Amino acid sequence: MSLIQLLDLGVIGDERGALVSLESNKNIPFDIKRVYYIYGNKGDVARGFHAHKALKQVAVCVSGSCRFVLDDGEEKVEVILDKPDKGLKIEEGIWREMYDFSDDCVLMVLASDFYSESDYIRNYSEFLRTKSSQQ
Ligand code: TYD
Repeated sequence: MSLIQLLDLGVIGDERGALVSLESNKNIPFDIKRVYYIYGNKGDVARGFHAHKALKQVAVCVSGSCRFVLDDGEEKVEVILDKPDKGLKIEEGIWREMYDFSDDCVLMVLASDFYSESDYIRNYSEFLRTKSSQQ
């Protein structure tokens, strides 16, 4: 499976503008239990720097742009999110870092579970160890 999984969310557009609808197990491939969004990022900040043990997420840049680095322990890829009708699917066990937030960036994330700090792996060496122990 490619590390970059960009979902086409579908636009219901008419002469008034665009509408995107997000539905569990339809265009979002899991039950959505949580939605959060990140905005007002200051200057050159980078975010993320963690993986999740079980959580699945879809990230949508609903305004502006930002750059994701995804890492499965073997391969690192970059993807720029700058379209409100594209969702980046991030599976469990993927290290992510986010950079280059535009001033107007609003990054919305749909998640398959409630917030739980115990699902995070925030140490990169520990992340790599979990990967090598899975092989
Ligand atoms: P974190 O996931 O580390 O943010 P990012 O990946 O964007 O750098 O979360 C930042 C803080 O917010 C951390 O203290 C956990 C808290 N938080 C919640 O309380 N609920 C949530 O749904 C999320 C995503 C984070």
